[in-house]
Amino acid sequence: MSSTSSEKGIISFTIPDYVRHRKLIEWISNIVQLTKPEKVFWCDGSQEEYNQLCEQLVQNGTMVKLNPNKRPNSFLARSEPSDVARVENCTYICSEKKDDAGPMNNWLPPSEMRRKLNKLFSGCMKGRTLYVIPFSMGPFGSSISHIGIELTDSPYVVVNMRMMTRMGREAYNFLGENGEFIPCIHSVGSPLINGKKDVPWPCNETKYIVHYPETREIWSFGSGYGGNALLGKKCFALRIASNMGHDQGWLAEHMLILGVISPQGRKYHIAAAFPSACGKTNFAMLIPPQGMDGWKVTTIGDDIAWIKPEKNGALRAINPEAGYFGVAPGTNEKTNYNAMATLKSNVIFTNVALTDEGDVWWEGMTDDLPSHLIDWQGKHWTPEIFKNTGRKAAHPNSRFTVSASQCPSIDPNWEDPNGVVIDAFIFGSRRSNTIPLVSEARNWVEGIYMAATMGSETTSAAIGNQKQGTVRRDPFAMLPFCGYNMNDYFNHWLKLGKQIQANGGKLPKIYYVNWFRKDINGKFIWPGFGDNMRVLRWILGRIQGESKGFDQLFGISPSYQDMDWTGLEFTPEQFEKVISIDKKSWENELISHDELFDKLFKKIPEDLLRVREKIGCRLK
Ligand code: GTP
Ligand code: SPV
Ligand code: MN
Repeated sequence: MSSTSSEKGIISFTIPDYVRHRKLIEWISNIVQLTKPEKVFWCDGSQEEYNQLCEQLVQNGTMVKLNPNKRPNSFLARSEPSDVARVENCTYICSEKKDDAGPMNNWLPPSEMRRKLNKLFSGCMKGRTLYVIPFSMGPFGSSISHIGIELTDSPYVVVNMRMMTRMGREAYNFLGENGEFIPCIHSVGSPLINGKKDVPWPCNETKYIVHYPETREIWSFGSGYGGNALLGKKCFALRIASNMGHDQGWLAEHMLILGVISPQGRKYHIAAAFPSACGKTNFAMLIPPQGMDGWKVTTIGDDIAWIKPEKNGALRAINPEAGYFGVAPGTNEKTNYNAMATLKSNVIFTNVALTDEGDVWWEGMTDDLPSHLIDWQGKHWTPEIFKNTGRKAAHPNSRFTVSASQCPSIDPNWEDPNGVVIDAFIFGSRRSNTIPLVSEARNWVEGIYMAATMGSETTSAAIGNQKQGTVRRDPFAMLPFCGYNMNDYFNHWLKLGKQIQANGGKLPKIYYVNWFRKDINGKFIWPGFGDNMRVLRWILGRIQGESKGFDQLFGISPSYQDMDWTGLEFTPEQFEKVISIDKKSWENELISHDELFDKLFKKIPEDLLRVREKIGCRLK
């Protein structure tokens, strides 16, 4: 151990011998002097350290230990009611030039933002511990992986990061004396000064989630929740990594990765992008319905994919994460058996309800409502109260944090440093009308158009922008996560297609799905979940040149007889309701595409405008 000087006003702290990276030490020293924590704690990622921090979080009232007979080694955390989801309107991409952030991102000049943040971070960790979290996104040692260091004053963040990333001392070995790392700074923004006592969930009304793409830095202030605070996830693995991918010729995407094995034993890999809370975790852990038992789905990732093209044109994908931060409500033995099995032990739940037996509950977990609960805000809850007030027991964006290794459907190669080769891309969104169950793009460019113009009804995964349930354009499910100009992003995908073809590679086919069409009573028409295997099967048949389909306005779709209906009663009339195109709604849909293009200042790639024209003609 070496020690820094302790002149007046300068915080002294020790540096472990195994940290030999000069720039890293210099950076940490600067942050310590800026934020003025009471102490610095170097996390090693061990189980003992995790246990000890959980114990401390229980002492502080942040977490409740669940009944070990019901849910061994598991905890429930309750956040402040104002700090429950990502805050998109406080999220910034501070590139040197405004145009590099593009029209879909919040932007301020870096110099101005740095002045703001300097003020906010100045002394913001007083009375608290600064934790140094070394982590790798992707398996240690993979050429696709990247290392990050998060500095945080939240022990809740530390224990979550341990499950969500490969966290541990090993990261310093890979960094050596001058390896590349992404500096991530996080503070809940609640210094313990003037005798202020700590609260269970410290946070600040003022929130900033800031990315500097050129210097590849992340600065997050004021929130302790999910993607705002676990900086390896959206901030690094998507917003910063999308910039790295753009510069270096690869992709960082909001996509699950699954493997699917046919009854004949042939294995395919699919990457699928759905907006937040639109079914990625569920699709990644799908169990085929009865009658399709010969098929098997394996899970590689449930939220983020890093995809790198090889010289021969193949696209290799890894899941940079090591855990799931998944949506609790709606998850049950029938909808997602594998998730429920993953959650049997070693889980941190956030903002779900507590049962009288010391276990957890959320809306949709069981058919019967428990007679009494403590809700996510710590208040008494009964079915009666719900009936009278509509107050939910779990927050709609309540989540579980759990290690991916506990998932029964985990793919044996999920940690393969070389990744898996992608056979098809699926894009999907939440639309109660207009968008058919499944369409296949006739070519790469049409697929890019489908992804680029994707619209989805907003969910509780983000707060503060829009009323929930209204359709907003969410290109590639990346609206909140693309760290640069969306036009450049579209071009990056178009260019990649050309490059794969030039290298003699086979372009993956692109599909657009929608599990969420509703009938006039507001009920989902498509059974969804395991039955999505039927759509996946049609898709795989298309890849093999076996499934038939017909030309729709928007790509190629299956007719009733092109789908496998074994074990499901679903009539041609019902199918018509999920696959049909309504002319009137499509006229409005196209107007909405045009509005998106206007927002992109008409810098939209020419190729995409030509697809728009063709659809317009077909509609007439
Ligand atoms: P993020 O973690 O926010 O990125 O969400 P996600 O895309 O992983 O979504 P997830 O799989 O957690 O599903 C979100 C919600 O949609 C849950 O309440 C699910 O029960 C529900 N859901 C998932 N798949 C289906 C489906 O096929 N049909 C219907 N009706 N609901 C679904
Ligand atoms: C999402 O919102 O897409 C999530 C949850 O996966 S969070 O990590 O909070 O961004
Ligand atoms: Mn997500």
